[in-house]
Amino acid sequence: MASNLREHIVAYFQEHQKLVEAGALELLLDHSHPLVVSREVIERSDGVSPFVTREMVEHVLADDRSGGYAVRVAPERPATGPAPPGPVAGFRLLQDGYVPPTAGETPLDAYSALFHSRYRALSRLLRGRPGLDNLRSIKELRATDGAASVVGLVREVRETPQKHHLILTVDDPTGSLEVLVPRGSPGARLTILSDEVVGLRLEFSKEARKLPRAVGLERPDIPPSRTVGRARRPSRAVFLSDLHVGSRSFLTESWSHLTEFLHGRGPAGELAASVDYVVVAGDLVDGIGVYPRQEKDLAIADVVEQYAELGRRLAELPERVTVVVIPGNHDAVCPAEPQPALPHNLTRGLGSNVRILANPSTFALDGVVVSAYHGRSFDDLIPALPGASYARPTEVMKRMLQMRHLAPIYGDRTPLAPSGRDGLILDTPPDILVTGHAHTYGVDRYRGVLLLNASTWQAETEYQRMRNIVPVPARAALVDLATFGVTTLDFSEGDPRSTEVAA
Ligand SMILES: [Fe+2]
Ligand SMILES: [Fe+2]
Repeated sequence: MASNLREHIVAYFQEHQKLVEAGALELLLDHSHPLVVSREVIERSDGVSPFVTREMVEHVLADDRSGGYAVRVAPERPATGPAPPGPVAGFRLLQDGYVPPTAGETPLDAYSALFHSRYRALSRLLRGRPGLDNLRSIKELRATDGAASVVGLVREVRETPQKHHLILTVDDPTGSLEVLVPRGSPGARLTILSDEVVGLRLEFSKEARKLPRAVGLERPDIPPSRTVGRARRPSRAVFLSDLHVGSRSFLTESWSHLTEFLHGRGPAGELAASVDYVVVAGDLVDGIGVYPRQEKDLAIADVVEQYAELGRRLAELPERVTVVVIPGNHDAVCPAEPQPALPHNLTRGLGSNVRILANPSTFALDGVVVSAYHGRSFDDLIPALPGASYARPTEVMKRMLQMRHLAPIYGDRTPLAPSGRDGLILDTPPDILVTGHAHTYGVDRYRGVLLLNASTWQAETEYQRMRNIVPVPARAALVDLATFGVTTLDFSEGDPRSTEVAA
C-alpha cells in the first residue's frame, strides 16, 4: 500500500508543477496526515523552485509541533478497549477535512480567509494551462493586451435582459472584474456557479467602455491521465450511507440481510469473506429536531440512545471488518461544513474496529484513496444545475470533481464553517468519491475516479414524500479494491440480488 500512496503524493506535487525529492517524500509518508502537510508545503513554496525538499517539509512539521497554524488536524479518537482486530494496517487517514475555527477572528475575517484559501488552492491547479496563456492578476490587466487570462472566484452570474448574454463578476486578491460571456459561445453553454473558481481566457474590445469577452473557460478538473491506486492484495470494501438509526423507518429487516451476508451465511459467502472494510457516508442516526415535527418519525427520541443503538447495529457486522464512519446533517455535531468527527461521549458504544472521522475525510484502504463526503451540498447544487436531480446524484458528483470542490455555494442551504483553510477542496483526485444524503443509489466513473452514491437504510418518510424524494434504499456497493469492479447488492428482499458493473 505504501507504494500506492507514494504515487499519489508524487502526483499531487506533479499537478502543482513540483518534483518531490526522495527525502521529502519519506517524511511525508511517515506523517499521520500526509495530504494536509503536502498542501501546506505547496502553500508556502515560492512558486519558483520546481523542487520540494526535505527541508521544506521539515519547516512545516516544526511549526506544527510548536502549535503553529500549519497542520491543524483533530487528533484521531483514542481507541477504546483492546487493539482493533483485523487488517487495520490497510486503513490510513490521509486528510481530515475539519479545520478548527481560528481563535479570536471575527466571522467576517474568517470567511474572507476561507475564500482566500479556496482561491489560492484552486488557482494553483489552473496556473500554467495552455488554454490560459498570458495569465494576469485582475489589477495587472490592460485592455491594450488584446488577449489575456485570469483566474477568478465567481461572485455573481447575471443575464442581460435583451440579448441574454451572461455577465460574470469574478474576484481575485487584487480586485474584481466584469466579463461578458456572449450568448451561444462555448462558455455560455456551461452553468457557472457562484463561488466556484474558474480560469477565463479574455479578449478585449478596442472600445474602452466595452467589457472583455470570455473566449475560453477552464475548471480545475481531474487531470485526464493519472495513475489510479489499486490494492495489491485481494480485498473488498462495502459502501453504505444514511442509516438513520433511531428512525421509525429504519429498515431493520434489510439490515439483517446485510449482516447475514457479511457473515458469509448466504449463497455469496465467498464474496463476503473478502470484505475488509465498510464505509458509511453520514446520517448515521436520525437525530432530533432536524426537520419540523420529526418526533413522530422517531423510534428512539433520545440522541444518546440513538448512538448506543448505532453501536449495537455496527456490532452486528463481522468484527474483522474495519468500519469507517463520517457524520452527516442528521448527526449530533455542528452542521456547518466541514463537520468534525463525532465526539467521544456519543461514540463510546462504537466498537474498537470503528474509525470515526470528519465530514469530509480522505483515507486509504489498502492504498486506494477514498474521499467520503456526506453530500449536503446536493441541496444547493441540484437546484442550480439544469437537469440535475436526486435520482442521478453521480452527475452532480462529476461536477464536484470538475470544480475540485465539494460544496462551493455559500449562503444557501449548506452552512459553511468559517475557518482559515477550506477543507471542502478536493486537494488530490481520489480513486473513489463516495457520498450519501440523496437516499438514492448511483455508480459511475469520471476520468478514472469511481463515483458512488451509497443509498440509505431508511424507508421513505412523510417528509420526503412531501418533498417528492423517492428513495432507493437497502443497496450496498461492493467494490473490489484490486480490480475496481463494482457489485451492487440489493438487500430489500432477503438474499441480495446483485448486479455487476465492469471495472
Ligand atoms: Fe439522510
Ligand atoms: Fe443527509
